Amino acid sequence: MSGIRYPHLFKPIRLGGTVFKNRIFASPTGFRDFTAEDFITPDGCAYYERKALGGAASVCVGETCVSNAFGKHGEQHLVLDNPKAANSLGRLCNIVQRHGAVCSAELQHAGWAANRHRDTPGPAYAPIDGEHDGRFVPAMPDSAIEDTIEHWGRAAGFAKRVGFGMVTLHAGHGWQLHQWMSPLTNTRRDRWGVRLKTACACPFQFCSPYGAMSAQTIPSRCASPAPRLTKAGTA
Ligand SMILES: Cc1cc2nc3c(=O)[nH]c(=O)nc-3n(C[C@H](O)[C@H](O)[C@H](O)COP(=O)(O)O)c2cc1C
Repeated sequence: MSGIRYPHLFKPIRLGGTVFKNRIFASPTGFRDFTAEDFITPDGCAYYERKALGGAASVCVGETCVSNAFGKHGEQHLVLDNPKAANSLGRLCNIVQRHGAVCSAELQHAGWAANRHRDTPGPAYAPIDGEHDGRFVPAMPDSAIEDTIEHWGRAAGFAKRVGFGMVTLHAGHGWQLHQWMSPLTNTRRDRWGVRLKTACACPFQFCSPYGAMSAQTIPSRCASPAPRLTKAGTA
C-alpha cells in the first residue's frame, strides 16, 4: 500500500454509534424539483441514489429547511416541520441506505433571506436591524430566537425519526447560522452576540436542543463553506 496518498480513504470509520463504510462523504447538494406540496419526487430520490451507488459512505440531502414559516428562501423547499413529508423523506432515506450509505439531512434556515420570494414578502429576522434584498428586516427578539432554537431541535428530531442517519448543519452561503456566526453581521451586544474568539458559540446555542434529541445517537457535522474569509470573519 505504500505510495497511496490517502491510505485510509476506503477503510470504514465509526463516528458516534454509526459505522461509515469508507471516508467519502458526498457534499450537500439540493435537488430543487419537488411536488406542489414540497415533497421529494422519484427523480429526486434517484438523484441521491446515484451518489450512493457510486460508493459514497454518506449522501447529503442539501437544504432541508427547519421552518416552513420563517426559514424558506424560495418557493419550493424540502421542509422538516411538515409531518406529511415523513413518508416521502423516509422513502428517500431507504433508497439511499439500501446501498450501504448513510443518508444525511442538511438542516438549513435562510434567516434574513426568508420569504423574500413572495409577492408580498413574509416575515424574516436578522441578528440586527438592517436592510436586506430591498426590505427592512428587524433584529430577532429573544422570543423569536428561542422559537428558532426549538425549530432547529425539532427538525433534527424529525430527520432522525423519518430515517436520516446523520444531520449536517448548514453554516455557510449567508444563511442563518452564517449570519449569526460572523462578527461582520452579528454585532449584538447581548448574549446572542458573537466575538471572533467565540465565533462558533452562537450557532451551537441555536442547535443545542438538537444535541439532546439526536447527537447521542446519530452523528452530525457542520458544513461552512467560507468563500470570503476576512480578518474580521467570514463574509
Ligand atoms: C448543483 C449543486 C448544488 C449544491 N447544493 C448545495 C446545498 O444544497 N447545500 C450546500 O451546503 N452546498 C451545496 N452545494 C455546494 C457543494 O456542497 C460544495 O460545497 C461545492 O460544490 C464545492 O465542492 P466541490 O468542489 O467538490 O464541488 C451545491 C453545489 C452544486 C454544484
